[in-house]
Amino acid sequence: MRIKTVILAAGQGTRMRSSQAKVMHPLVGHPMLYYVIKAAQQATGTKPTVVVGQDAQSIQQAFFEQASFVIQEPQLGTAHAVQQAESILQNQADLILVTYGDMPLLSVETLEHIIEIQKSNTGPMTMLTLIADDPRGFGRVVRDPSGQVKAIIEEAQATHQELTIRELNASVYCFNASWLWQSLHKIPISPKGEYYLTDLAAIAVSEGVAVQSYILENSEEGIGINTRLHLAEAAAILRRRINNQWMLSGVTMIDPLTTYIDPETKIGQDSVIWPNTHLMGRTEIGADCTIGPNSIIQDSRVGDCCTIISSILEEATVEADVQIGPFAHLRQGTHLASGVHVGNFGEVKNSYLGPGTKLGHFSYIGDAQIGADVNIGAGTITCNFDGEKKNPTEIESHAFIGSDTMLIAPVKIGEGARTGAGSVVTRNIPPYTLAVGIPARAIRKLIKRD
Ligand code: UD1
Ligand code: MG
Repeated sequence: MRIKTVILAAGQGTRMRSSQAKVMHPLVGHPMLYYVIKAAQQATGTKPTVVVGQDAQSIQQAFFEQASFVIQEPQLGTAHAVQQAESILQNQADLILVTYGDMPLLSVETLEHIIEIQKSNTGPMTMLTLIADDPRGFGRVVRDPSGQVKAIIEEAQATHQELTIRELNASVYCFNASWLWQSLHKIPISPKGEYYLTDLAAIAVSEGVAVQSYILENSEEGIGINTRLHLAEAAAILRRRINNQWMLSGVTMIDPLTTYIDPETKIGQDSVIWPNTHLMGRTEIGADCTIGPNSIIQDSRVGDCCTIISSILEEATVEADVQIGPFAHLRQGTHLASGVHVGNFGEVKNSYLGPGTKLGHFSYIGDAQIGADVNIGAGTITCNFDGEKKNPTEIESHAFIGSDTMLIAPVKIGEGARTGAGSVVTRNIPPYTLAVGIPARAIRKLIKRD
């Protein structure tokens, strides 16, 4: 059977009290809608069609590869939204799966289940329900005495009796396509002036055909996001899912509640993550590392056996056995070879530090190529910006940069050379030469030691 998905995401999400469309609010590293699109794509093997209206442009820009779009303008309710997809999906599918962009925790398995039930259903629709003590403003599922679904009643229209119902509409439905397209036209306008998709349940029943339903086993999946409180709840659940998976695969977390890991991040076995650590984007951490506390690592690669304490890494590459922090900042394009140490208040940008090089304290290294076993004294600064452009610094292996050295780029420090404390280096220093002063001048040749 051919199946297509329609995801509703045209509403403003008034209850979020935001200038941004609800489905674009970030949730653990991605806009909320990302999770819905991904689950739908995995469950059906096809690109979903997303109905957009408010903030349509930013949604289309973010997901142009993963989805197709139709515009709903004005937004006249969930049934009206589905109707917008009719012209492009008509004759394209036998089954239509409908889900909402504000239900990001629904699993692929749940969507697959609903589809499977509808495949063998002679009736026109299968819907997902959940049982929950907190109704969260969801529609109530009304059943007849024999247990058959009779109707879905929206909270605003529900009687006192109906408001006590704890079975809620999770808003995932799989429809027989031709029945759906015909029946959408039969939906009456609600007192709020909207066309509710949920009215299709009562329409089916009035035609004498049964509505199939499936009750969510894990009601956590049914957390819909209407307010920022719900957003925080959903984020906590997603984080827990991610953290549990890493702990089960061999990562220690001292405090999973304060450990924030994005879905694409990877962590090697026997690494230990300390509290208040954020591993973001496509970060990869090797095995046997100690990360945190208080570290933020974004889109970076960290090799095995590294320690990173109270530091920030952005698009950095760190090889094995590297010690970082506390309070280091590795910016875009930093590459630390194995055995490097970057200590407190070290900032590195767009630079390579060779194996065994040490930068212990208070230094800025930008646009530099540094060899192996270089000692960078406290307070060393590559003065890489002349007001117009960034200039490179090169420091060859075994050099020793004295404390408080200013390296006025472009400049090159030869192999085994040394600078005196407080020197301002304006010219290249040849290998195995000691230079001191302001501006620094060579005062002595050094003996090369093996
Ligand atoms: C909806 C359901 C409710 C269900 C709940 C579960 C209806 C009428 N009600 O209520 O039964 O329990 O979801 O989360 O369907 N949207 C459009 N165009 C519109 C209106 C809405 O695309 O004209 C989109 C929104 O962007 C959102 C989704 O549809 O992604 C649901 O809208 P929302 O206002 O959140 O409905 P709920 O009140 O949550
Ligand atoms: Mg909602």
